[in-house]
Amino acid sequence: MNRIFSGIQPTGNLHLGNYLGAIRNWVALQNAYECIFCIVDLHALTLPQDPDELRASTREVTAAYIAAGVDPERCIIFNQSMVSAHAELAWLLSCITPLGWLNRMTQFKEKAGKQRDLAGLGLYAYPVLMAADILGYKATHVPVGEDQKQHLELARDIAGAFNRRYERDFFPLPEPQIFGTGTRVMSLRDGTKKMSKSDPSDYSRINMTDDRDTVALKIRRAKTDPEPLPGTIEALEVRPEADNLVGIYAALADQSRETALQKFAGQNFSVFKEALTELSVATLGPIGGEMRRLVADPGHIDAVLRRGAERAAAIAEPILREVKDITGLLRP
Ligand code: TYM
Repeated sequence: MNRIFSGIQPTGNLHLGNYLGAIRNWVALQNAYECIFCIVDLHALTLPQDPDELRASTREVTAAYIAAGVDPERCIIFNQSMVSAHAELAWLLSCITPLGWLNRMTQFKEKAGKQRDLAGLGLYAYPVLMAADILGYKATHVPVGEDQKQHLELARDIAGAFNRRYERDFFPLPEPQIFGTGTRVMSLRDGTKKMSKSDPSDYSRINMTDDRDTVALKIRRAKTDPEPLPGTIEALEVRPEADNLVGIYAALADQSRETALQKFAGQNFSVFKEALTELSVATLGPIGGEMRRLVADPGHIDAVLRRGAERAAAIAEPILREVKDITGLLRP
């Protein structure tokens, strides 16, 4: 059986990278797989969060899933902390995860910064909780952006370590699904840096709830070079900012980079940026509007999450019980 698990942290505003790298692909996949989409609030706590903002952000991410077209009837949508199996399994898996594997994680190094001794244990153990998210449902496929690739490899390694330790084929090794032209959307201010929620510059990213004027302004200000758009992909690839904008256009238009580039080869950025603004607004505008409508009714969102958590627990709890039996823990 093919089962998808994926998730997003409720930290700050969702941006175009989250949409193109993850959510949009989920919408397409929900017809072909059993899908579980999580709002990973326990992961958010690995860095300090304001409690009210965390609650609001959890509801906003839920609204984004639904507004983008993830169907809460067909898929399971819930927030991680409502299903205690995630945290329990994370502990069990942490006991079979060598420190050496965690020491390789580049995201920890980036987020911990220079003062590594001050970073929390949760930030360090973050990828083990992510492995528990996935393995706790015996998920076979995980659609994410490129930045999650290393964490997914670790999840596979942990699944393999468990299977070897207890000499059985218990956890499937989850396959990453990293596809499309939007798997790595870069900052609008610096084509060598990933578009991210934590970038201090608002102009570095387009948020899913930005209005037309904001999108237009951010794209107008997006860093480019004075040359018009080139005619070949090879010439584009050595210009990271231009490459990123063409990549975004292609992803939004559901085209290859080549097709998108052909349309604008030889043209100035002013022309291309206007077309990119139109396309961004046409895609994100309706989603942002629907998000605002949904967020205005938190009672409805909370009901979706509660129902999702019941359905998620019905899958994860029996798997956790089996893990406990396998590992020799007595149960009630
Ligand atoms: P998070 O919350 O950082 O990002 C959510 C999703 O958005 C993708 N993404 C991007 N894709 C393209 N370009 C970008 N600039 C960009 N920025 C973010 C991410 O790859 C991700 O798919 N650890 C995960 C959350 C998580 C998870 C899981 C994911 C927890 N448990 C289990 C899958 C399965 C994270 O922090 O994603």
